[in-house]
Amino acid sequence: MDLPHEVARRRTFAIISHPDAGKTTLTEKLLLYGGSVHIAGAVKSRKAARHALSDFMAMEREKGISISTSVLQFEHEGLRMNLLDTPGHADFSEDTYRTLAAVDSAIMLIDVAKGVEPRTLKLFEVCRLRKLPVITFVNKMDRSGLEPLELMDQVGNTLGIRTVALNWPIWHAHEFVGVYDRLREKAVLWTRLDGTSIVPEQMYDLDDPALEARVGTQELETLREELEMLDIAGDPWSLDAFLSGDVTPFFFGSAMINFGVSLLLEALGSLAPPPSSRPTVEGSRHPSDEDFSGFIFKIQANMDARHRDRIAFMRVVSGQFERGMDVKRAAGERAIRLSKPHTFLASERSIVDIAVPGDIVGLYDPGDLRLGDTLYQGERVEFQGIPRFAPEFFARVRLKDPTKRKHLQRGLEQLSQEGTVQLFYRPGEGKADPFVGAVGLLQFEVLKSRLASEYNTQAELDAAPFSLARWVVGDEKAMAWLGARPDFTLVEDRTGHPVVLAASPWALTYATREVKGLELFEISPL
Ligand code: G4P
Repeated sequence: MDLPHEVARRRTFAIISHPDAGKTTLTEKLLLYGGSVHIAGAVKSRKAARHALSDFMAMEREKGISISTSVLQFEHEGLRMNLLDTPGHADFSEDTYRTLAAVDSAIMLIDVAKGVEPRTLKLFEVCRLRKLPVITFVNKMDRSGLEPLELMDQVGNTLGIRTVALNWPIWHAHEFVGVYDRLREKAVLWTRLDGTSIVPEQMYDLDDPALEARVGTQELETLREELEMLDIAGDPWSLDAFLSGDVTPFFFGSAMINFGVSLLLEALGSLAPPPSSRPTVEGSRHPSDEDFSGFIFKIQANMDARHRDRIAFMRVVSGQFERGMDVKRAAGERAIRLSKPHTFLASERSIVDIAVPGDIVGLYDPGDLRLGDTLYQGERVEFQGIPRFAPEFFARVRLKDPTKRKHLQRGLEQLSQEGTVQLFYRPGEGKADPFVGAVGLLQFEVLKSRLASEYNTQAELDAAPFSLARWVVGDEKAMAWLGARPDFTLVEDRTGHPVVLAASPWALTYATREVKGLELFEISPL
């Protein structure tokens, strides 16, 4: 296998958006353009019938939400795309944050009528943290919405990133008919079909009379003026600034009628980066490094009711992954044989024999692996871990049957290793009666239902009166100050790092103002 070539043709990305912006529709259309027609249907029916791969729990089916993250792989013009699907429901956003640790770029999907919405903002923050290159796709252009310039301003101001329009919408009789591709300097017009097939595409120079005939003299005049204005007043395009996360290019389209999907895919090929190196505790690991390495970014139990197993999702960082290979865990010395690796093709698992940097492999895990684990061959390497995000809901676990205490502790520990909830312990009280924290309340329901079905333990969760958690860095005096205040509760996360729980942000602002050298973080230190 020509490894450098295989790596160079990988694009590993995720779509971030607010619910209803059209992520399911766009995913489906990317797959349609990638030639996976039958799979495209599967994405839609997943949302409708809620039976497919990612609907792995009865609860999920009942609530009609997609909790899990799956990986969709497809080919497009010589490129191998790995699209990491993310849960749509805000209550599982922590899962999405972690998924963003495993991609090299993201598409930020915005509804033209709504602009930047709260979830977009939060997810973008996570992208910024990693300096991920973000491509903006303005969706639902077939409907009326905000003016393109207004949207660009809004994204620039609320997200604090520079924007450059690489496409510009073209209208005919108030209908969205195409875009001007500013890099190629061509007008691209599409012909509307029913949305289920690839739309015919025609390209024109700006001075082509055929373009004027199609869009109208007045519309063409407006387009010319707008393009001129962009040339004069807009930021110049810089690929480097995009790759370092300082600029987001704008594309306009409509996933529903397939307008703009081809150009978005092209941009993933020509602009989005191939798999990049990853920071390690000692330095960094590059895809071209010979030895195999990868890290676990997601652990998911009961993917499929027929196989009651746990799957750890690994992103390959360097070297070549082969089925049956023996690897080591950076956190332990025992060798692990990776014998049942899977890839995920929308609706089915298939066994994978070989994977290269950028690929995601699902590993069968009998319970050895942890979130953030590094797996490697050859020289020891350890990637910087995956941060945890501050929970917003807290509860105290109450056991109904005291003889089940051991089951409960094991369940809580294993489920927290998967990231279902976070555990916080009171210093000096050992592992008894921890607080549990979650980003969304539904996570608590998942916890209860899994404790019952997998650990045979009935537990009640009593709401705890906190609304935020912050990881604490400070000296002994600062810790003593926090510990003595009645308005905070000082606890430890499962690594023993101090965390403060509080009922209101004001108390924390007060604390950082009062106590010298006290620092509070919304994201766990690595
Ligand atoms: P999500 O995964 O981000 O939650 O969004 P999803 O794709 O389910 O889309 C949400 C709604 O927006 C759907 O309508 C979908 O058809 C619509 N939509 C997506 N892309 C476009 C677009 O480009 N133009 C227009 N006009 N609508 C779009 P729905 O009525 O909720 O569902 P459905 O009955 O169409 O499936």
